Amino acid sequence: MLTELSEWQELLAHHQQVAAYHMQDWFLQSPNRAMRFTIKTDAILLDYSRNRINDDTLRLLFQLARKRDLPKHIHALFTGHPINVSEKRPALHTALRDKSKRAIWINNENITPLIAEAKKRLQDFVNQIHNQTWRGLTGKPITDIINVGIGGSYLGPMMAAYALQDKACTGLKFHFISGVDAIHTHDVLKGLNPETALFIISSKSFSTLETLTNLKRIVTWMEQSLGQAGFKEHFIAVTASPQKAIKQGILAEHIFPLWDWVGGRYSIWSAIGLPLMLMIGNDAFDDFLEGAYQMDQHFSKAPLEENMPVLLALLGIWYINFFHSPVYAVIPYFHRLRHLVPYLQQADMESNGKMVSTNGWAINYATGPVLFGEEGNHAQHAYHQLLHQGKHLVPVDFILPSQRSRDDQQNILLASGLSQAEALLYGKSFEQAYETLRLSDYSEEEANELARHQMMPGNKPSNLLYIDEVSPFTLGSLLALYEHKIYTQGVIWNINSFDQWGVELGKQLLPSILENIYNNATVPAKT
Ligand code: F6P
Repeated sequence: MLTELSEWQELLAHHQQVAAYHMQDWFLQSPNRAMRFTIKTDAILLDYSRNRINDDTLRLLFQLARKRDLPKHIHALFTGHPINVSEKRPALHTALRDKSKRAIWINNENITPLIAEAKKRLQDFVNQIHNQTWRGLTGKPITDIINVGIGGSYLGPMMAAYALQDKACTGLKFHFISGVDAIHTHDVLKGLNPETALFIISSKSFSTLETLTNLKRIVTWMEQSLGQAGFKEHFIAVTASPQKAIKQGILAEHIFPLWDWVGGRYSIWSAIGLPLMLMIGNDAFDDFLEGAYQMDQHFSKAPLEENMPVLLALLGIWYINFFHSPVYAVIPYFHRLRHLVPYLQQADMESNGKMVSTNGWAINYATGPVLFGEEGNHAQHAYHQLLHQGKHLVPVDFILPSQRSRDDQQNILLASGLSQAEALLYGKSFEQAYETLRLSDYSEEEANELARHQMMPGNKPSNLLYIDEVSPFTLGSLLALYEHKIYTQGVIWNINSFDQWGVELGKQLLPSILENIYNNATVPAKT
C-alpha cells in the first residue's frame, strides 16, 4: 500500500516540520527563490515558488515518484500499453498529436496510418465547408455548425471554440447543444435556418441518452422543413460506434471515426475537435496539436525535477495527501479561458475521482481534488474571501498573461491576478491592519477590534502559470499539461485515470425513475 512506503512515511514526517513555516520567511531567506522555483516550456512559464515547499520537500516528492516508477509509466502511456486496466486498453490520446509519424501498435495494428487517414478526411471536409463546395440540400452554403454532444463530446470543443474565437478564419457561427433540457435545444434551433445548418452528432459511444434524445428532436425539426433528405444531408457524426450512428440514420460517408483507445475527456485532439477545426482552420488546428505535442515531448523527456506536469502533480499530492486539502482552484485571468474550468473538472475529477487501486483493492488515501474555479476577475469578487480568510487551505493555479499589454485594461487584469497571489502569499498581519486603521483615524479601541477582522494569515499556496496569449499553440500545451498532471497523479496513487465506472449507476437507474415519473409516483407533491 502506498501509505506504507518509507517514501510516504518520510513525507509525513517532513510535513510535520514544514507545515509550521510561513512562506514569506523562505522568500526573505532566499531572495532568488522565485527564480530557483521556475521552469519554462515553449508555451508556459511556471513559477511554483509560492508553495509550502523547500528543497527537501521536492527531494522527497521526487523520491516518491521514482519509487512509483513514474518514468516507466510515462513510457507506457506513450507506447500504447493497456494502462486503462479495467477496460483492457491503452489511452493513446497522445498518438493523435504525435508529429513523429512513428508506428504505434495496438493488437498488432499500427494506428498511425488510421489517424493520418481520419485527419485527411477531416481536413478535406473542413476545406469543403470553407470553400462552400459542401452545401445543404437546397444548394445553400453552410452558415451554422451545431455540435450535439455531452461530457467529453462537448466540453472540449465548446471550451476551445470559445477560447480561440478571435482566430476564427470564416464567418461560420457555432452552437452547442449538450444537456437534455428541451429549452436549450429549442433556444438554439429557433435561431437557425435548416437549409444552412449542419449538425455534428458527437458521441464516442453513440448511446448517450442526452445526445440521442436531442438528436431525435432535431431530426423532427429538420424533417418538418426539409423532409428525410434534409436529415441525410445536414447531419454528420463523430463516433467510435459507427454502426449505431448508421442505425440512427446517419449516412456512413458522413461519419468520422474515433477509437476506443481515446477517452472521451481526452478526445479534443480527434474528430471530436471538428467544431474547432472548422472555426480556426486546418493550419491553426495543427498549431493546437503542435502545442500539445511539445508538451508531450517535454513530459516524456525532461528529467522529473524539471518536468512541468510532474511538478504540478506532486505539488497537488503534497496538499491533498499531506495537508489533507481536498480542494483546488484553477483561476485564469483570461476571459477567453472562461470555460476551461468545467473542461478540467471532467478531465481531473472523472479521471482521478477513484476509490480502488488499479488492481481493484480499496485504498486508504485521498485521490483527485474537488476542482473549482472561474475567470479570475469574477472569482475575486465572489469566493476569494474564502481563499484568503476561510479555514480551508485551497491551493490555486493562476493562469496569467506573461507580459505587459499596450491596452491599459489588460494591465489592470494582470495586476488583479498578481495582487491576489501576493495577498494569498503574504497576507496581512494584525499589526499591519492595526497601523493602517490608526492612520485612518480609527481610535485605538476601534482599530484593535477591526484589525482582528481584517488580518489575513497568508501562507496560502499558488502556482503562477504564464502564457503570452490564448493561441492554438498555448492552449494545446496547457491542456496537455493538465492531462499529464492528472496521469502522473493517477500513477502515484496507483489508480486507473482512464475509466469512469462511477457514472454508470445513475444512468442505469434513470429508466425506472422515468417510468415512475410517467406514473406520477415520484413527482414531489405540490404544496
Ligand atoms: O457519462 C460520462 C461519459 O461517459 C463521459 O466519460 C463522456 O465524455 C460522456 O459521457 C459522453 O459520452 P459519449 O461521447 O459516448 O456520448
